[in-house]
Amino acid sequence: MANVTLTIDGQKVTVPAGTTVLDAARSAGIFIPTLCHDPAIPGFGACRLCIVEIPGMRNLPASCVTTVAEGMVVHTASEAVIEARRTIIDLLLANHPQDCLTCEKNGDCRLQDYAFMYGVRQTSFHGERKNYPLDDSNPYIIRDQNKCILCGKCVRTCQAVPGRSVIDFGYRGFNTRVVTAMDVPLGESDCVYCARCVAVCPVGALTYKPMAGKGRTWEIQRKPVTCTFCESGCTFELNIKDGKVIGITAKEPGPGRPLCLKGRLGLELLYVEEPMTPMLKKDGRFVPVSWAEALGLEGVVARMKEVEGK
Ligand code: SF4
Ligand code: SF4
Ligand code: SF4
Ligand code: FES
Repeated sequence: MANVTLTIDGQKVTVPAGTTVLDAARSAGIFIPTLCHDPAIPGFGACRLCIVEIPGMRNLPASCVTTVAEGMVVHTASEAVIEARRTIIDLLLANHPQDCLTCEKNGDCRLQDYAFMYGVRQTSFHGERKNYPLDDSNPYIIRDQNKCILCGKCVRTCQAVPGRSVIDFGYRGFNTRVVTAMDVPLGESDCVYCARCVAVCPVGALTYKPMAGKGRTWEIQRKPVTCTFCESGCTFELNIKDGKVIGITAKEPGPGRPLCLKGRLGLELLYVEEPMTPMLKKDGRFVPVSWAEALGLEGVVARMKEVEGK
């Protein structure tokens, strides 16, 4: 593929044709903030935080969906760009609970990071606010739609696995939100609790229920571990606090990694000091089950007992 040379913040950068301005900047070590961009799924252009200034182009284009061109000049941090990013963050905060003190995501939240980076202490817009009930209808994931910034990463990540597509955008305008089919709580939907969506959510809208209240982000060390329950080889993280594994979380899914619940539960059993009681849905309700049933090993365990009894 032919190469293209452009100038980003005064620096000559050469990348293959078809590269996005965002990737070109990143390849040169130049920072551009993003909320909805995920390298594993096609660009979406929803949040606009990655805007840059390109002389000759109308408005400020989103760098994650703009492709490079020969001789292009890009300014990633001009006065106009910084001002526009401040306004975007200000608008996001206008409809976002100021709940950092007790939020599970505090310390690992992109919105918080960028508000700090661009000096947006509070919103200057005052109007109607979202007020949705907390969805903790299942044993694995807590959904707080009041904290959702509608970046769409969860929707696109869920859709990336054939046969899932459990969530999508619903309603319109101010009422737009991520919903399940018929807008039922996650616990009543076809969700398989793989937590791919939790792994990519940039804010505290999706968090792990078994980890709730167990530690602040900065108290937890994370160690990658590969699941060996099937050939997909998904990567999870041991969450370690005070030398003890307090939970298992899914690492960014990447292409082709299903990150299934069975794998996560199996790792809970292997590594977590006090593993959660496994729960499976039966007749539409979550009920506690044995580890053998949760891991689909009932037949193996029965056969083992039979052989050992001989
Ligand atoms: S999601 Fe982020 S910005 Fe919102 S309350 Fe939680 S930590 Fe704060
Ligand atoms: S947990 Fe998995 S199946 Fe459920 S909504 Fe998230 S990505 Fe989709
Ligand atoms: S729940 Fe999280 S990932 Fe999904 S749209 Fe909202 S902020 Fe984005
Ligand atoms: S990261 Fe580019 S529009 Fe959201």
